[in-house]
Amino acid sequence: MDHFTYRHRVLHCEDVPVRALAESYGTPLWVYSKATHLHHLLQLQKAFEPAKPLLCYSIKTNPNLAIARLMQEHGAGFDVTSGGELYRALKAGGVGEKMVYAGTGKTDPEIRFAVESNVKIINAENDQELAAIARVAEHMGRKANIALRVNPDVDPQTHAKTTTGKRGTKFGMDWERIVAIASEIVGHRWVTLTGIHMHLGSPIYATDPYRDALDRAVPLIEQLRQLGHDIRYLNVGGGFGIHYRKSEALMAEAFARIILPAVKQARCQLILEPGRFIVGNAGILLTQVIFTKDSGGKHFVIQDGGMNDLIRPTLYESFHRIWPVEPPADVPAPPEDYEAIIPNTQVCDVVGPICESGDFLAKDRQLPRVSRGDLLAVFSAGAYGMAMSSNYNGRCRAAEVMVDGAQHRLIRRRESYEDLVRAELEV
Ligand code: LLP
Repeated sequence: MDHFTYRHRVLHCEDVPVRALAESYGTPLWVYSKATHLHHLLQLQKAFEPAKPLLCYSIKTNPNLAIARLMQEHGAGFDVTSGGELYRALKAGGVGEKMVYAGTGKTDPEIRFAVESNVKIINAENDQELAAIARVAEHMGRKANIALRVNPDVDPQTHAKTTTGKRGTKFGMDWERIVAIASEIVGHRWVTLTGIHMHLGSPIYATDPYRDALDRAVPLIEQLRQLGHDIRYLNVGGGFGIHYRKSEALMAEAFARIILPAVKQARCQLILEPGRFIVGNAGILLTQVIFTKDSGGKHFVIQDGGMNDLIRPTLYESFHRIWPVEPPADVPAPPEDYEAIIPNTQVCDVVGPICESGDFLAKDRQLPRVSRGDLLAVFSAGAYGMAMSSNYNGRCRAAEVMVDGAQHRLIRRRESYEDLVRAELEV
């Protein structure tokens, strides 16, 4: 469910016609719906309510301070993955006591920052990192609470580049080494092992991977307790899939049905690190057609959203629904199924202005006929959209706007040419 709807052939975000936003703020433009963010956060909170989980919004997904603050104000903590994200989460009003810190290569200054900020749990991903956390904690004379990030070796059935819980990826500790690593820190003076962390991959459209991983994690927790560790937290990470093509995502309850009993059995507090599920369907990328072009037997729609804005199609072959903001009368509503044959459309590649053939938002996509000046909505772009954008090709990053009912507010201004060179030092 989201709050991007066509009313009389005009796309609205909540109560605002999207065209008005393009007129006020220009394109390309990230448009977010506050109500959709909160709706999805609430869905998770409700589904997992029996476990009273610590829900840590994965700030990497969409790090804008306004969104982070919204999450924080509605009860979420944060999953951070670097010193920069920790800084951002704190700036958004987050408190260390509701934060968990994952990441495969934490530096000593980052670990120090986390300990200083009272981050609830620092996840150790390998034995060297564990030693580094202990060393930094000792220098600071402060005890650090840690979890072991484990690699449960399950296949999340998602893109190879976003598979993390499978053996052979760089993430977490191999199963057979965990107990040995844990036994070395029983009664450690500077680190306390309080939990287990895992993150299987993203996006996930099945519950089996969680079930399989938890089938391994629950007995492991008992084993760690037998060693003498007071294991209190079971962090199952994020990964819940969203609707990209049509209604393919599972409800939060489906994941809860698998996760809740396991957490109960493990006698742990549940920690979740959702990102995409909350923000993915809450944002669109609004772009404008610059030219259309027929060449090499193809029809190209060249619009002003580039791979520097939304890199997901290029990087993961991911599918984002695209439809005109004000479609023509002969193809009024966006289709239920974008991949079925849609009458009165034209097959085209939706491409951007960047100097790479990999610069596309969609390939061989059916679109109503569009021409210069028309606005396009690229849906489900709230997660890992702006977050992964860059200045490649001297492109200023787009503005972000938050819609709330009939109100809208700029939450990040469009970058200027000056911004592009601001950090550079001329000798
Ligand atoms: N926790 C950890 C440790 C993670 O690494 C991630 C995402 C999450 C939580 C949040 O996962 P989510 O709930 O959003 O699925 N850029 C890719 C996705 C990369 C995911 C990275 N880790 C994409 O655009 O699909």
